[in-house]
Amino acid sequence: ALGAGAVALAGCTRTGDLFMPAPRERQFPADFLWGVASSAYQIEGALDADGRGRSIWDVFPRERIHDGSDAAIANDSYHRAAEDVALIADAGLNAYRFSISWPRTVPDGESAQQLTPGGWDGFNRAGVDYYSRLIDALLARGVTPYATLFHWDLPLQLQERGGWTSRDTAQRFADYASVVSETLGDRLKHIVVLNEAAVHAVVGHVIGEHAPGLRDADQLGAVIHHQNLAQGLAIQAMRAGRSDLIIGTTMALMPSRPQKAVVPWLNELAAKGFDEIWNGAFLDPLFKGSYPGAAADMVESVVRPGDLAITRQAVDFLGVNYYSPSYMRFNASAPSFIEAGDPPEGVERDAFNRHVDPSGLYEVLVRLRSDYGNPRVLITENGCSDPFSDGPADLEDDFRVDYVRRHLEAVKSAMEAGSDIGGYFHWTLVDNWEWAEGYRSKFGLVAQDRATGARTPKQSYAWFSALARSGALDA
Ligand code: NOJ
Repeated sequence: ALGAGAVALAGCTRTGDLFMPAPRERQFPADFLWGVASSAYQIEGALDADGRGRSIWDVFPRERIHDGSDAAIANDSYHRAAEDVALIADAGLNAYRFSISWPRTVPDGESAQQLTPGGWDGFNRAGVDYYSRLIDALLARGVTPYATLFHWDLPLQLQERGGWTSRDTAQRFADYASVVSETLGDRLKHIVVLNEAAVHAVVGHVIGEHAPGLRDADQLGAVIHHQNLAQGLAIQAMRAGRSDLIIGTTMALMPSRPQKAVVPWLNELAAKGFDEIWNGAFLDPLFKGSYPGAAADMVESVVRPGDLAITRQAVDFLGVNYYSPSYMRFNASAPSFIEAGDPPEGVERDAFNRHVDPSGLYEVLVRLRSDYGNPRVLITENGCSDPFSDGPADLEDDFRVDYVRRHLEAVKSAMEAGSDIGGYFHWTLVDNWEWAEGYRSKFGLVAQDRATGARTPKQSYAWFSALARSGALDA
C-alpha cells in the first residue's frame, strides 16, 4: 500500500527526494524483538501509594489537558501489572519496554546517597519493589524487560530547584540511575536512559503543552545539554557498578523537511536548523561528542570543558521512536526563525492529525547508517491513535494494523539495505493517558473500560500476536 502523495515507481515509494524500496522478503530474523512500550506516568496511577513523591506532571494544570482528565488512575497498572504481563506474554511477545518512575524510587529526586561502594540509601524501597516484582513476572514468562529511566516524570522538588535548567539535576539523575542498576540490575539488564529528550525539552519548556509547562525558549539550550550530560553521567555510573548492562537511549527522530515554497531556500534553512536542534542536538553529543550548527549556538553558555567527553558514550543500542516526518518553515519572529510548517497537500493523516509516512522512518534509519556509524537500533515506539473521542475505543482497528504493517515494511527495507535493527516495540499495549490529550487519544492494542478498568484486546492485538509468533509480515 502506498501513502497518498507517494508515487509508485517500479516497486519504489517516492516521497520528496527519498526512494524507499519495497522489502524483498517479509520474514524477520528469529531473534527479532517483538514488544510493546509504555511509560510509568501514563499507566500506573497510584500516585500516592507507598511513599511515591510528586512529579511535575502531578501538578500540571488539568485545564491544560484537553479532556480535563488526570492520570490518578490511568491503567491502574500499579495494581494490575499482572494483567499487563499476561497480555504481553499471551500474545507471544518477547520484550516489554516500561519506564521506572523517578519519584516513585527516589521521591524527592535527590536524597539517594552512596554510603559504601555499591551500597545506596535514601531511596524508596517500596517503589523499587514494585518494579522488582514486575521484572520477575516478565522474566517468569520469558519476556525481556527494557526499562526507561526517564520518561518525563521529573520529581517536583527538583523542578523547584530549576529542573533541567539546572546542571545539578544531571548529577541527581546519575545517582537515581545507580539506585536502579544497583537494586534491580541483577535481573534488569536492558536500560533505556532517556525517552525523547527533544520532546521533553521543546514541548515542556518552549511550547508549554507538557510539564513543566514553561514557555521560555532562552532555556532550551540548558535543558538540552543537561539532559545529555545526565545521560552520559548515568551511563558512566551504571557501567561502573555493573559491567553486564545493555544500555541505550531513545530519541524521537524526525526527518526535517522544508515546507514547499516558491522560493525554497529560507524554508530549507529552517528545516536544517530544526534538524540540528531536534535530532542533531541529541545524536551528535552521544555519537560524536559535539553539537551541530544551531544547537551549538544554543548550548554554548552552559557547556563546560570536559562535558562533551561525558555526553559521548558507546551505547549498546539506539532506541528510535517514529511517528511522522516534520515540515518546517522560516518565520522571522519565531525562536531561531523556525516554526512548524505544513506538509504537502493531500498527505495521509491519522486521527491524531499526525501525518502518516513510513518513508520518514526509512529515511531516519538510512541516515543513522550513513551519518552515525550504523548503530544497533531498536524501534522503541511506533503506533497510531484512534480518532479523538471520550467514548469507547474502536475494537475493529484495521487502520492500526495497516499503519504498523507499513512501518514494518520500512524497517525491513532498511534492514535489507544494511541497517542493524534488532526489534520493534509497538506504542502501546493498553489505551492509556496520552499527556495533554488525556484519555481521548487511544494508541493501544488493547482497550480499557474506564469505569471498571477491564481490558479488551482489539483486532490489532491478535494481528500483532500472530506476527510476533511467525516473525513474518503478512501482505
Ligand atoms: C511518544 C511518547 O514517548 C509517549 O509517551 C507517547 O504516548 C507517544 N509518543 C504517543 O504520542
